[in-house]
Amino acid sequence: MTSKTIRETARIVTAHRQREGAGFIVRRPFPAQGLDVADPFLLLDEMGPADYGPGEAVGAPDHPHRGFETITYMLEGEFEHEDSAGHRGVLRPGDVQWMTAGAGIVHSEMPSDRIREKGGRVHGFQIWVNLPAKLKMTRPRYQEVSAGKIPEARSADGRARVRVIAGEALGAHAVIDTHIPIVYQDWTIESGADVTVALPREQQAMAYVFQGAVLVGNEGKEIRDGQLALLGEGDAVRFRGAPGAGRLLLLAGVPIGEPVARYGPFVMNTQEEIAQAVRDYQSGRMGEITRTAEVR
Ligand code: FE2
Repeated sequence: MTSKTIRETARIVTAHRQREGAGFIVRRPFPAQGLDVADPFLLLDEMGPADYGPGEAVGAPDHPHRGFETITYMLEGEFEHEDSAGHRGVLRPGDVQWMTAGAGIVHSEMPSDRIREKGGRVHGFQIWVNLPAKLKMTRPRYQEVSAGKIPEARSADGRARVRVIAGEALGAHAVIDTHIPIVYQDWTIESGADVTVALPREQQAMAYVFQGAVLVGNEGKEIRDGQLALLGEGDAVRFRGAPGAGRLLLLAGVPIGEPVARYGPFVMNTQEEIAQAVRDYQSGRMGEITRTAEVR
């Protein structure tokens, strides 16, 4: 058996708080000033956990996207979405929506009617994954996977558990198809856990701890709630339990390595393509959400 090179923590970034959409607060490790090394990932937002009273919950009403993918993963609460292609649905705890905006889509992402009216807790993630030039204008695509269909696995001693949204770990393979190789996994690492999983050398990897703390690498660097560890070179990652349990998102992907022109909800390669995206959106070429009056 060939021995694996374990990836160590190269840098730690602490998430900052940011107001988004109609005014909801996210914890955002990146994008951030001076952190331009997350390719192919463009953004990582942790929404909440927030406890809303009746009438308080806000979301992101109708807005466009072009040139990348948005992935929503709910932990608590419910999000409703609808879009210009006629898709409509509700994301519940554990559900994943992998949306390839590609050439363009207009959608809305809102806490459900029930949470807006009665209040409740909302906690989840949205990440943005870039697309290479040749796929930026691809047809929009949705993959919605309910919680029960997300593959899960655990270490032999049961102290490390993983939900595999993308990639593979401990024998569990993702059901979601990605345009470029991506790893997206939700790990729970209990005290006493010690788990090592292969992660291809060509992928850039990072771990975002969103609960408790986790020890990363052979060095056992402690990464705490709200911290993102950018991992160095190697072909495996190792997580060990810190006192109490910890939970993290493991993200990895092969860097695209192309110029990034970014303006709000559009991510292209050049400023000219951004200007075109703005024109296409303003002239209605990304469509609009058709809403018919509901009979109650
Ligand atoms: Fe969006």
